[in-house]
Amino acid sequence: MKRMYAVIGGSGLSQLPEFEVTRRQVQRTPYGEPSGALTFGTLAGTEIVFLARHGYGHTIAPHEINYRANIWALSQVEVDGIVAVASVGGIRSDLMPGHLMIPDQIIDYTHGRGATFFEGQEEPVQHIDFTWPYDNALRTALAHAANSINEEVVSGGCYACTQGPRLETAAEIKRLARDGADIVGMTGMPEASLARELGIPYAHLALVVNQAAGVGDSALEISHAEITRTVQDGMGRVLGILKSLVQL
Ligand code: HPA
Repeated sequence: MKRMYAVIGGSGLSQLPEFEVTRRQVQRTPYGEPSGALTFGTLAGTEIVFLARHGYGHTIAPHEINYRANIWALSQVEVDGIVAVASVGGIRSDLMPGHLMIPDQIIDYTHGRGATFFEGQEEPVQHIDFTWPYDNALRTALAHAANSINEEVVSGGCYACTQGPRLETAAEIKRLARDGADIVGMTGMPEASLARELGIPYAHLALVVNQAAGVGDSALEISHAEITRTVQDGMGRVLGILKSLVQL
């Protein structure tokens, strides 16, 4: 049977162009409201389910996202994998706006987010393995999907997740670089670990939309105009990779 993927769209991807919507499902969860209704439809003729992480009107800040409700809702409709699309800053100096990465590691700098399903009186504590936080088969499929349409992606790298919603200071980015991070975003955690808790394969497709604070062209400040330009162009390429993935 064909797989059904979920796509979680981040900044710049609160709607999927070329996605033919068939139905919307409001999914109740024990953790409250997801970011919006689950949107079912077809992409390149294949069924997928889409969820806009920041809400369909892009009104939910990274620290306000109900990650537990989002991942729980997707688990209830039995998706075979989650592709999480993310806009990120490039920390490594060779990662320029427009570059795409499928990271293989995470460092989590967030705090105060509902980060586990295994808490409360009724739930036994569980310590999931998270040595390799992303699903390797899904990462490989994404890389293959990109290669087959001649989209260059950097396979492997470390995603740092900061709390936001502000961007980082130059000193914070230097610290993340010393820690070994290559890219930085605000929404990858606890999304990835919650998916692992429920056994759902999860991978990130990250689009670099700016050089991180203090790096290269962002030495003095980060240009929002450039971010907007890069997002518009880059998300078209992300869409191409997703279309290629669902047809594999
Ligand atoms: N930092 C954190 N999150 C981001 C950035 C950044 O520079 N760019 C896009 N998301």
